[in-house]
Order: sequence, then structure tokens, then C-alpha cells
Amino acid sequence: MTGKIEELLARVEQFNAKTAAEVEEFRIRILGKKGELTALMEEFKSVAPELKRELGQRLNALKNAAQQRIADLREQVQNAASAAAAHIEDKSRPGTAEELGSRHPISLVKNEIIEIFSRLGYTVAEGPEIEDDHHVFSALNFAPEHPARDMQDTFFIERNPDILLRTHTSSIQVRTMERQKPPLRVICPGRVFRNEAISYRAHCIFHQVEGLYIDEGVSFADMKQSLLYFAKEMFGENTVIRLRPSYFPFTEPSAEVDVSCSLCGGKGCNVCKGTGWLEIMGCGMVDPNVLEASGIDPKRYSGFAFGMGVERIAMLKYGVRDLRLYFENDVRFLHQFDSAL
Ligand code: DAH
Repeated sequence: MTGKIEELLARVEQFNAKTAAEVEEFRIRILGKKGELTALMEEFKSVAPELKRELGQRLNALKNAAQQRIADLREQVQNAASAAAAHIEDKSRPGTAEELGSRHPISLVKNEIIEIFSRLGYTVAEGPEIEDDHHVFSALNFAPEHPARDMQDTFFIERNPDILLRTHTSSIQVRTMERQKPPLRVICPGRVFRNEAISYRAHCIFHQVEGLYIDEGVSFADMKQSLLYFAKEMFGENTVIRLRPSYFPFTEPSAEVDVSCSLCGGKGCNVCKGTGWLEIMGCGMVDPNVLEASGIDPKRYSGFAFGMGVERIAMLKYGVRDLRLYFENDVRFLHQFDSAL
């Protein structure tokens, strides 16, 4: 009988199961009414009294081992089942939303500017951010001593004062005039760089859109009408503009363009500082020196140019008070433009 007990104990210890049903089947086979252990218990009743003590202990140990093994296996299969259940998707649960990106407000406004001028027949021209003195200053009629050429204002590439980061997109005007013959009608978006301390209203990197229109007989009145159309499309049908005389080396005459404040309707508020007007760009008739420097005959052709800051237009359009917000990539700010345009 010792042999039978040992043999059954070995089988109990080695038994393994994957499902609760297998464990139950095993329990019945060993501990059930007709089970193997129950049969051994029956047999035990008739062993010689001097063997009872030792065999009784062995049988008890076997019974304990079997019960323990069954309890362990039950727990094991149950754990495996709940781990598997966790992987089964609950189809009725609300899904996790995909985080979608959105266009940056500067891109939105830049695209809108391009779109408005494209309706007037302008096409997009681009140029390099790392430029030379000729395209940023000399060809645009900047005198040799002009303060913009100073390191206070312009980032020069070390050891070569001829190479610099463009301070305005007017350099693309020059490149376009060098490449193409009139009639020319281009809109030139791009990033520009100036040696400025960063504050709520200034940054060392910002965006501009330049415009250039050259043909025979282009007049100041054509410019005014084009810019009025732009202002109405950008800021609303009731917008009006005014031009104030100004100075730029590359235009003559030159003007600064103001739009009526869209927030107060021209009555005066804290955004327009009580004036009812907001400055949005510079413009003027292309200086004959500039046409000549790029090989265009100023006796035959005339044209106008204008330049605006994209951040500024976006600030006015959306009421953004601090320029730095555009560069911080805080999604709480950016998500406010999800549905714009
Ligand atoms: N380049 C000027 C600036 O950066 C903006 C500008 C003014 C561009 C007048 C023009 C213009 O084309 O005609 O401030």
C-alpha cells in the first residue's frame, strides 16, 4: 500500500491543468466518492493494526497534498482567465479620442493673406532665409550708412559681413525682379530675423508677407484699391483704410497703411489706443533705383510694393495680446484656433 500512496502522491504533485473543468475532473478522479484516494482510504480500514499509524500519516499527507494542489490550480486558472478577459475589448466602452493636430494661427493667417491676393492674380514667390547684403539692402536702395545695416538690428554670419539673416521679405522682391520680366505680380511669405529683445510685442524671429506688382502704367490708385480690397477681405466688409506718408528706402512715395479698428468699429478702444486705427503694413511705389538695380527699365515700368507682419495681422484679427504665445506651442493656446478658417 505504501507504494500506491507514493505513486499517487507523485501524480498529484505533477498534475497540471489549464481550465477549471480540468481541475474539477481531477478532483473527482482523486477525492470523489469513487476516487483513487477514497479507494485507498477503504483499503486502509483493513490493514494490520501495527501498520495503521505509519500508513495513516502517509494517507493524511497525500490527502492534504491533493487538496492543496487542487486549490492552487483553481487559483492559477482563474487568474489566467481574468488576465485574458482584461484583453477582450468592451465594444460598448467610449473610445479614446485621437489627438489631432491643427494649423498654427500664423499659418492660418499667412494662408489667408496668400488666398486673398491670389484672387487678384498674385502668385507665391519664396527666397532664402540666409541672404546677402545685395538682396536685403543694396539692391533695395539702402544707403551704405543706413542703421539697418548695423549689428544692433541685423544678424550677420560670423566673419562674413556680406552674409546675414534676412531682416525682411523685401529681398524676395529683388530675387523675383532678377529672375522674371514684368508684368510681375507676386506675394512673398517668409520668416525674418532681427536682433531684438523678446517681449510681448517684439521677437527676433517673425513672419512677413511681401507683395510686388510691376507693369506698365501701375499707379498709386491701383495700390490703394488693392490694399482696400485686402483689408475688407481680412477684417470685414465695413473696414476702411487710411494711408499716412512714410519713408522706406525702396519706395517713393511711401506710406503706412492703417485699418479702422475692427474691435471698436473706429470709435476708439484700448487696442487701437483710442485712435480708432490700427497700423497693418508699409507700402509705396517701387523706387526707380530699385527697378534699375534689378534690370527693369523705370521709364517703361512702374509698380507698387507692400509688406506686412503676419504676427501683427493675427494679433489684430484674433485679439492676441502677447506675441510670445505664437512661439511657445502651448496646446491650450493653439487649440483655440482649431476651427478657425
Ligand atoms: N520691408 C518693410 C519692413 O520690413 C516692410 C515694407 C514696407 C515692405 C514698404 C514694402 C514696402 O514692400 O513697400 O518693415
